[in-house]
Amino acid sequence: MEAMSPPRPAASDAKARASLLILLWKKFLRNYREDSWGAITKSCKALLSPAFERNVYRVYVRELGHSRFPLPQLDDDLELFLLDPENRCLIDQVEAQAEWLEGHVAARLAAGDICVAVVQGKTLAGFNLITFNDAYIPLLRTTRRFRPNSAWSDHISVSPQFRRRGIAKALRLQVFAELASRGIHKLYGGALSGNRPSLQLARSLGFRELADVTYRKFGFKKSWRCRRCPALPRAPGS
Ligand SMILES: CC(C)(COP(=O)(O)OP(=O)(O)OC[C@H]1O[C@@H](n2cnc3c(N)ncnc32)[C@H](O)[C@@H]1OP(=O)(O)O)[C@@H](O)C(=O)NCCC(=O)NCCS
Repeated sequence: MEAMSPPRPAASDAKARASLLILLWKKFLRNYREDSWGAITKSCKALLSPAFERNVYRVYVRELGHSRFPLPQLDDDLELFLLDPENRCLIDQVEAQAEWLEGHVAARLAAGDICVAVVQGKTLAGFNLITFNDAYIPLLRTTRRFRPNSAWSDHISVSPQFRRRGIAKALRLQVFAELASRGIHKLYGGALSGNRPSLQLARSLGFRELADVTYRKFGFKKSWRCRRCPALPRAPGS
């Protein structure tokens, strides 16, 4: 009689594990290029994450109302435009800057999401991806539904070599104008509460900080706690 062999993991499981490892490796390389010590800390956090995780995420909102937004200003070598689902070359670069979006951007654009990009020649300098209705927030491991007249800023990112040239500000101003022209009244977004550049950028563009959401995972137990932010004075002109 033949000895029974233990059940083999399905090929799809092995494939899923391999793609998770590739994703983590890409994330590590991206973080390492930006900040080597930060990358090591983030990798330790990622390794612990199956058992323990804690993120404090600040959520903010910009009322778009009927405001008129100043035209985005950029250096002459940079160009701003709305990304098209057919633009494979730039979509690949967006996905390389945000590996968790890999394989999803074209479909999301085709389904109505918006991605404003700044390029230098054929090189992506930065982008802001906006979504509607249901948004998955990876740092909170949750999905949030937005009203039809609201939008969620999924991710804004500028490549390290292009930072502090007003690119993120130009992206946001273009997004504000684009959303307002589509009748969207509110743009929500968020960042880790320790992400000073991102929070400073949001404040300088008139976003109002709403709440800190703390996501905790300990073993199988997960919890979310929300604490309102004290009202800050608004930025002039917001
Ligand atoms: C946050 C980020 C998008 C800013 O991009 P940027 O093109 O360098 O920003 P800008 O040059 O347009 O700066 C606009 C304003 O943002 C704020 N800001 C930008 N970088 C900052 C920094 N390192 N420290 C403090 N404030 C900063 C400032 O208020 C700045 O105005 P100022 O130049 O008049 O002082 C960029 O640092 C980045 O891609 N970070 C990694 C990705 C990320 O954290 N995204 C947010 C989470 S979704």
